[in-house]
Amino acid sequence: MDRVDKPFLRALAGEAVWPPPIWLMRQAGRYLPEYRATKEKAGGFLELCLNPELSAEVTFQPLRRFPMDAAILFTDLPMLPWAMGQPLRYGQGGDDGVGPILEPVRDAAAIAALRPQDAAKRAAPIMETVARIRAGLEKDHPGTALIGFAGAPWTTACYMVDGRGGHGFPETRRMAGENPALLETLFATLLDASEAYLVAQAEAGAEALMLFDSWAGLLPPEGFERWVIQPTAALTARLRVRLGPDYPLIGFPRLAGAGIPAYTARVGVNAVGLDETVDLKGPLPSNVTLQGNLDSKILVAGGEALRAATAQILDAMRGRPFIFNLGHGITPDTPPEHVAALVEQVKRG
Ligand code: CP3
Repeated sequence: MDRVDKPFLRALAGEAVWPPPIWLMRQAGRYLPEYRATKEKAGGFLELCLNPELSAEVTFQPLRRFPMDAAILFTDLPMLPWAMGQPLRYGQGGDDGVGPILEPVRDAAAIAALRPQDAAKRAAPIMETVARIRAGLEKDHPGTALIGFAGAPWTTACYMVDGRGGHGFPETRRMAGENPALLETLFATLLDASEAYLVAQAEAGAEALMLFDSWAGLLPPEGFERWVIQPTAALTARLRVRLGPDYPLIGFPRLAGAGIPAYTARVGVNAVGLDETVDLKGPLPSNVTLQGNLDSKILVAGGEALRAATAQILDAMRGRPFIFNLGHGITPDTPPEHVAALVEQVKRG
C-alpha cells in the first residue's frame, strides 16, 4: 500500500488525520500471554531479539488483537551496543532487576575497542526481522506502517557507561561532568554506528525511525544542549543526507519538560513524542506532529479514569497533526482488554 494510504505516515507528513492514528510503545511485550509463550519458545529475551522469525511474530501479536496504525520493530535498545561488540545479557530479577546488563565502557581503551564499522553487519538478524515484518504487514495489515528505532546517543551512552539502568546512571553523569572529552569520543563512535544501523533499518523496510531519549530528563539545561540536542541534531542531519529530506523521523526526549521547544526547533524531526508529564493544554511546538501522551498507569486502571483521560487528550489535539500513544511503554500488569477499549475510543475520534 502506498504511503499516502497509511494514516500514521500521513500524520507524520503533517496532516491532521482524524480520528488520529494510534500505536503504543511496548505494544508487543509481557502484558500479552502469547508474547510470554514466544519468548519461552525462543529460549530467552536476547535469543528472541536475535531470532528474526520469532521477533517478527511478536511484532504481529498486538496487531491481531488491536487495529494499530503502526508496528514497531521488536528488538531492544542495547542491541546496538551489542552489535558494536559490547557484551550484553539480561538480568533474571533480584539484584540484577529484569533489564539489560552491559559490560561497562568507562575508559579510552574500552571505547577504542568498540567496532561501529561492524554494527550494521552484526545486526543482520535485526535487519532480517525488519524485512519480515514489512512483508507481513503488506500482506495482512496493509494500512499499518513499520517504525524502526534506536536509542538516541545520550540514552544509549547511559546504558553503555553505567552498564545497567535503575540507579539514575551516576557513572555517565560523572563522565559528562569530569571527563566530557572522553564522553565525546563515545558519542562520535555512537553517531557512526547509529547512522549505519538506522539507515540499514530503513533500507530493509522501516517506513519511519524513532529515536528514544528515555533519559533526556536527567540533564540540567547546559547538559541537555550538549548531550541531547547537539548529538541528536547531528544524527538527524546525517539521516537526512542518507534517507532524503522527507523521510519521517520521530524524536522522544522523555521528561525534557522546558527543553522540548528548543529540541523541536533544532533537532530535525517530523514528530516529537510527549511523556505523560506534558500538559497538552499548555504551550506546545506547532512545527511538528505531536505523539503521546496517556499515562501508562491510567491504562492499567482502565474504566472511567481511562475514558476520561483519553477524551481529554482527544479534545486537546483535535484539528492538529497528532498520533495517539502513551507517555511511556505499556507495563506488564496492563489488562489487554483495557488496550482494546482505548483503541476503540480513539478510533471513534
Ligand atoms: O513494542 C515494543 O515497543 C517492543 C520493542 C521495544 C523493546 N524495548 C522491547 C523490550 C522497544 C522499542 C524498546 C526500547 C527500549 N529498551 C528503551 C526505550 C524506550 C523506553 O522504554 O524508555 C529502553 C530504555 C530500553 C532498555 C530496556 N529494555 C529496559 C530498561 C528493559 C527492562 C524494563 C522493562 O520494561 O522490561 C528492557 C527489556 C525489554 N525490552 C522488554 C521488552 C519487551 C522486556 C524483557 C522481557 O520480556 O523479558
